[in-house]
Amino acid sequence: MPTATLNRLMGKILRENSTIAHAYDTPPGCEPLRHEVARRLMDVGCSVTPDEILTTNGTSESVYLALKAVTQPGDTVAIESPLSYGLLEALEALHLNALELPTHPRNGISLPHLQAALEKRQIVACFLISNFSNPLGTCMGDAKKKQIVELLTHYNIPLVEDDIYGDLYFEGTRPKAFKAFDREGLVLYCSSHSKTLSPGLRVGWCVAGRYQDQVETLKWVVNQTTAIVPQLTIAAFLANGGYDRHLRQLRRAYQAQMTRMTQAICEHFPSDTKVTRPNGGHLLWVEMPPEFDSLQLYKEALEYYISVVPGSIFSPSGSYRNCFRLNTGLPWSEVINQAMRTLGYLIKRQLAMKVLDSPVTPPPSVFQ
Ligand SMILES: Cc1ncc(COP(=O)(O)O)c(C=O)c1O
Repeated sequence: MPTATLNRLMGKILRENSTIAHAYDTPPGCEPLRHEVARRLMDVGCSVTPDEILTTNGTSESVYLALKAVTQPGDTVAIESPLSYGLLEALEALHLNALELPTHPRNGISLPHLQAALEKRQIVACFLISNFSNPLGTCMGDAKKKQIVELLTHYNIPLVEDDIYGDLYFEGTRPKAFKAFDREGLVLYCSSHSKTLSPGLRVGWCVAGRYQDQVETLKWVVNQTTAIVPQLTIAAFLANGGYDRHLRQLRRAYQAQMTRMTQAICEHFPSDTKVTRPNGGHLLWVEMPPEFDSLQLYKEALEYYISVVPGSIFSPSGSYRNCFRLNTGLPWSEVINQAMRTLGYLIKRQLAMKVLDSPVTPPPSVFQ
């Protein structure tokens, strides 16, 4: 992350206006940031004005406010499955039920399942990660994104979209957002610079379409404002032209790290291991045979100071116990190589020690 440049910009902003850090902002947030975000959203296929953008304290807050604006406690929201546990916690905090849609790492959510849920009037909203999802790394193509938006529009169902990883594509051009295909203001677009510039500055935004007033009111009620200095710092970074160069370096680094970690999986893990091959982001999803217990691996790995995320916390129904998520976001090093070797050893040892009293019913696999 370009920490030194961000610190320098922040210092300059404070020096030039020494009281600015201590003032309240009001929704929709700082204009220079909204201006820069609107400009960047052109690359995502969205033509919006700064007035249509609300700045927030990160994608988490955007998603929380967006979901709250379109649901009531007790409602059901369709989600891709598996889904990032942080987002599941948001659903839980809002007392929402999740309808898990089967999701393929390459092709994305199952349209027949979404269609069936819509026909049965089972859901009031849908939540999807647009690009390089957490944890599967899924990035649906434009045609499918358009199809999903049209299908939801037909049933007048809002889509809360989280595009936090979209700038981290490895090849080609920036993948589009669902919002790019939204003609009715039904898509609530949420994102931030947590994965590209600084998670600590907590700078995010929400383009809520026809729900903009509700989302802005909720923002005001929840915490009134987003801190001004972080907003101006990010705006200055986006404006000075360094962002594209920084992104090119970051994407190259993430791609190399992901390739290296995938090689280590091939080297050290059992031969029947399945692993995703995302075209962006920094997450890998690993699937082991049905009898494997990733919670046990999680506990054993922690003793070696290795962190994996067990699969079942990515599902409200507790599926994916035989899966886990790896983060490839750190620069490759001998320490990580050794950690992968250790993980391979722990996995093989667990599988070898499994005494199968009864045949295991295979859980659903995202790779089918
Ligand atoms: C899909 C997804 N959305 C949101 C977040 C949180 O974003 P922020 O730090 O901007 O609140 C994360 C963080 O890991 C994430 O993976």
